[in-house]
Amino acid sequence: MNLQWYPGHMTKARRAMQEDLRLIDVVIELVDARVPVSSKNPDIEEMVKNKSRILLLNKSDMADSEITGQWISFYEKKGYLALAVDARKKNNLKQVNEKIQQACRAKIERDRKRGIKNRPVRAMIVGIPNVGKSTFINSFAGRACAKTGNRPGVTRGRQWIRLNRQVELLDTPGILWPKFEDPVVGQHLAMIGSIKDELVQSVELGLILIEFLTESCPGVLNDKYSVAETSDSAEILRQIAQNRGCVRKGNEPDYEKAAFLLLDDFRNARLGRITIEKP
Ligand code: G4P
Repeated sequence: MNLQWYPGHMTKARRAMQEDLRLIDVVIELVDARVPVSSKNPDIEEMVKNKSRILLLNKSDMADSEITGQWISFYEKKGYLALAVDARKKNNLKQVNEKIQQACRAKIERDRKRGIKNRPVRAMIVGIPNVGKSTFINSFAGRACAKTGNRPGVTRGRQWIRLNRQVELLDTPGILWPKFEDPVVGQHLAMIGSIKDELVQSVELGLILIEFLTESCPGVLNDKYSVAETSDSAEILRQIAQNRGCVRKGNEPDYEKAAFLLLDDFRNARLGRITIEKP
């Protein structure tokens, strides 16, 4: 499976973001807690190296909480301020605010020494498509103000949302691109549904998912679809098709339909909270 993502737009997006970054004190980077490596753009390291940074492991409601905890320790050891969140809920916001204050402590102190009081810190959300940037901005800002839609970079007319006395947020997130050089990255992003299904061969992806689940989460497929978890992924997919009535004319198993069903269940956490990438 070989996937590409608007490589032509990258340079433009990168330039636009670099411009926006000049205005920012703290970068809040969102990744998907189920695939924290594949959903993280490595170029961002270079782009924001002089900024305060916060890493939010979003969609943590769908990830294995123990592994998310391991990821937080992993990133904290690397010097990040990291936090697990569910962008749809407002109950993480206090913690996020605390992290922002923590991240900007040095700047606030510098301002204070120069006699500047109460200048809010300016924050910007960044991340690859579908990690929950717009959802987070909407929850964080408390009103429907984030424009949705996946455009790389940031629109020109900059708008700041005053979150509280201490923080202002750029209303439009910075959209990064995933790094597809390693085909596994594409597979993982496709598994969580972050790549359009037209680009992805569902049967192939379904088989990869079955292989992952039988190895890493034994029992899950048996519980959900009453299949025998053999080492033959195609046989498991055949059994899913059979047990779920995915059949073509002539009573042939409809592998594509069964793969869609499996992927849809996985993406919507109906197979439980499962993290694909481990530290
Ligand atoms: P983006 O701006 O980074 O591209 O992502 P966006 O906020 O549009 O979110 C992408 C999808 O992920 C949305 O679902 C959104 O509801 C969902 N989402 C965001 N954060 C979380 C989270 O923490 N947990 C869970 N479970 N889902 C989250 P959608 O199906 O595309 O849209 P809709 O059904 O919500 O309308």
